[in-house]
Amino acid sequence: MPRVYLETFGCQMNELDSQLVSSQLRTLGYTFTPESDQADVVLYNTCSVREHAEQKVWSRLGELALRKARQPALVVGVLGCMAEREGEALIKRMPVVDVLIGPAELDKLPGLLDNALRTRASLLSDETVQELAATPEDEKPDVSRLRSARQVALHGAGSHGTTNRRSSTLAAAADSLELLDLSRATSPDDHQGSAYVRITRGCNKFCTYCVVPFTRGAEVHRPPGHIIDECKRLADAGVIEVTLLGQTVNHYRFEHDHAVTIDGLIQPQKGRAYTHKQGVHHDPYKLAKGEDVTSFADLLFQIHEQVPAIKRLRFVTSFPRSFGDDILQVIRDCPRICRYLHVPAQSGSDTMLKAMNRGYTVAEYLEFIDRARQFLHQPEIDRPLTLAGDIIVGFPGETDADHQATADLLRRVRYKNCFIFKYSPRPGTIAEKNLVDDVPDEVKRRRNNDLLNLQTVISDEVSRSFVGQTLEVIVQGLSRREQKAARRAETAGACSTGASGTSLTIHGKPASASEHETTVPTDVPSADSAASRHAPVQLQGRTEGDLIVLFEPPVGVDPRDLLGRIVRTRIESASALSLFGTPV
Ligand code: 5AD
Ligand code: SF4
Repeated sequence: MPRVYLETFGCQMNELDSQLVSSQLRTLGYTFTPESDQADVVLYNTCSVREHAEQKVWSRLGELALRKARQPALVVGVLGCMAEREGEALIKRMPVVDVLIGPAELDKLPGLLDNALRTRASLLSDETVQELAATPEDEKPDVSRLRSARQVALHGAGSHGTTNRRSSTLAAAADSLELLDLSRATSPDDHQGSAYVRITRGCNKFCTYCVVPFTRGAEVHRPPGHIIDECKRLADAGVIEVTLLGQTVNHYRFEHDHAVTIDGLIQPQKGRAYTHKQGVHHDPYKLAKGEDVTSFADLLFQIHEQVPAIKRLRFVTSFPRSFGDDILQVIRDCPRICRYLHVPAQSGSDTMLKAMNRGYTVAEYLEFIDRARQFLHQPEIDRPLTLAGDIIVGFPGETDADHQATADLLRRVRYKNCFIFKYSPRPGTIAEKNLVDDVPDEVKRRRNNDLLNLQTVISDEVSRSFVGQTLEVIVQGLSRREQKAARRAETAGACSTGASGTSLTIHGKPASASEHETTVPTDVPSADSAASRHAPVQLQGRTEGDLIVLFEPPVGVDPRDLLGRIVRTRIESASALSLFGTPV
């Protein structure tokens, strides 16, 4: 069977999509390789949120064009937001691409890939391959006659996104994509203790800078029964941490009467008001709608109660508006729900928030942060809420005063980390069409650095506040230091001990794959300090509040036995990005 190399760009939603398509391809017999050069099929799951992410893909495709001249049987696929946004224009610019699939059509990948492989194989007889191989590089013919191998699945017409999907009134159940989530493999090898579960696809917010509503389409909420079942299956496979995913998770709302049954898979459940030791949770929707809606608070509560094997339940991303007390109350009352919120402000200036169409003011954002902190402030259990945010600098019209207002917001909120992005106009978005990108790049860069430096000081202080505490850490794998050392040792062909001899990997957010992670300076120890391969192996895990903890396993413990487990760790020291601890 063909070997596949799959590279993922962008957000956690893309990471999940990649996991789902790879588990589907594995079921069909495809194997995967971590080395692009050894693959028969190269797939890029792309992101369009910022131009930078797209540029990386263009340059990878340029390299593949050269390679395809040497390896004409190679099949290249572009999946995800860039495929949807660019449409067939992408193939015009990069004829090397055989398969183009938007994020709303990923379930079609196996069929289209199979077609592309068969067509390519039939077009490339043995003779052609030999002939091409024997031809000198600079005389190789154009392989464009193989273009008929192309397979395309886009929800819209491409060309800067689509609104077709928006006009459809698909219930989640009728959405063929639902089958992709439902068919996910839950083997223990795939998860290493931690997994993402999608609750909502798409977005309806139309923030003026954002391409997501165009590429991922209208908001569709998955039926709660499916989500809970998926959590149960993951828990049975050893998953102890689940991260629920959606662009605006707190707006999750499933209307049961609208559910459609397909293949008997859906068992519509009536939403129920529920009671808890702290009293009845109020759902504002429910009051208006009767009892046939499952709200986000309901969903969290139901997963917590029905799947106790999940020791940590978290969710991203929250939208600052309409985050009801009912959700905060469920977080407070359910010990296995993490006290961690990723709730992007985007700016600390009301003028900018208005221009971004965010639908809240700075005062309203701060009111929410204060309310969340107050609700979850329980000194007796010492589980403080940690916050993460996103900020865009250099949005059209942003003045120095707006920028200072954002710096004030960072000082006031005190995120444990904040992702800071330079505004990048995205074709087809409202801001790109109507606003002039008038903040010069050097000003964007300066503001970006200003905020990064400020946030580093704040992150450092937040991290230090944990020194002396004993925290539960879910072990994800080798620290970045170890991964780098392992890669170096591999490149050098060195015979090494310790980390590089293990097969541990970082699950979830690979150190190098997340753009987010590169937005603040790294504090990983220098290459030299990691050079000694006789040093004890260093592991990485995360706390309930999503802080990274680095530690060495106790003497005599095989690090592989700790993977995906909770280890109680005493925090000895801290830096802006990491806590350093010792297992107790
Ligand atoms: N330019 C810069 N940053 C952007 N984001 C979304 N669109 C853009 C853009 N056009 C950022 C927002 C969002 C995060 C995922 O990416 O901060 O929360
Ligand atoms: Fe984009 Fe705004 Fe939707 Fe987030 S809420 S995905 S920033 S449109």
